[in-house]
Amino acid sequence: MSGEQEFLMLGGGNPAGVPEVQALWRELVGDLLEQGERFDEVLVNYDMPKGRPGFIRALVDFLNRHYDWGITEKNVAITNGSQNAFFYLFNMLAGEFEDGTFKKILLPLCPEYIGYADQGLDRSMFTARRPKIEVIDAHTFKYHIDFDALQIDDDIAAICVSRPTNPSANVLTNEEIERLSELAKARGIPLLIDNAYGAPFPGIIFKDVVPFFDQHLIVSLSLSKLGLPGTRTGIVIANEAVIDALSSINAVSVWPTAIWGRSWWRRCWLTTAFSPCAGM
Ligand SMILES: Cc1ncc(COP(=O)(O)O)c(C=O)c1O
Repeated sequence: MSGEQEFLMLGGGNPAGVPEVQALWRELVGDLLEQGERFDEVLVNYDMPKGRPGFIRALVDFLNRHYDWGITEKNVAITNGSQNAFFYLFNMLAGEFEDGTFKKILLPLCPEYIGYADQGLDRSMFTARRPKIEVIDAHTFKYHIDFDALQIDDDIAAICVSRPTNPSANVLTNEEIERLSELAKARGIPLLIDNAYGAPFPGIIFKDVVPFFDQHLIVSLSLSKLGLPGTRTGIVIANEAVIDALSSINAVSVWPTAIWGRSWWRRCWLTTAFSPCAGM
């Protein structure tokens, strides 16, 4: 939409300008301009590698207050968009390792967000499973995970789902998420849940969903669908080892991921971050 050609943007994940929301952002930016010192700080200081402490504190308070997750500031990192967070995470967790092994990201239900498809630095980084389709009536159906066909082989480094999914709008049920979470925990691998449209915010979701968190989950949220796509603000909630690694990548951004992709470093990190989950 910020290009110079005129066209009708019909892409699924693109923002609508909601006048009330835009008025709110304008008001808040006006406040910021009034407070000269804070404004200058925004313009002249880099943020911390894991994001602005005040923002992280507010998020931690909010999530603990509403969901009793028991998280601390060490469990949260802010990234330049949740899409980038997934790029970092996928390539941190999967791909070719120094010893020749190759790990993959399992998408347990396809169709899944098309934006993941080209995020792997290594080829064939993703493996996906067909859904079970529940026919509800002549015009309605629902995708479910086919757990009978969901074998998690040794080469799976992580499981990833978006909830809801762009563009199918499928929402995994609470039971499906719980089952996936148990499978991931038993295998000592993380389950990534992309909540870009989901709970607790922006809440563009019309089902009774419970937001989950546990030490083996990596939960992402985004401010893009709340009406701030231009700021590309992603939020990742995960165990401390994951947050430390993400912060290191944030500090220097994309290129180190490419190095990690091919070093023993990644394997060491993976082992220490998730082995405590195995068998828990
Ligand atoms: C499922 C999903 N996750 C993530 C994103 C990207 O979010 P962000 O703007 O925070 O990078 C999108 C964008 O359309 C999306 O559809």
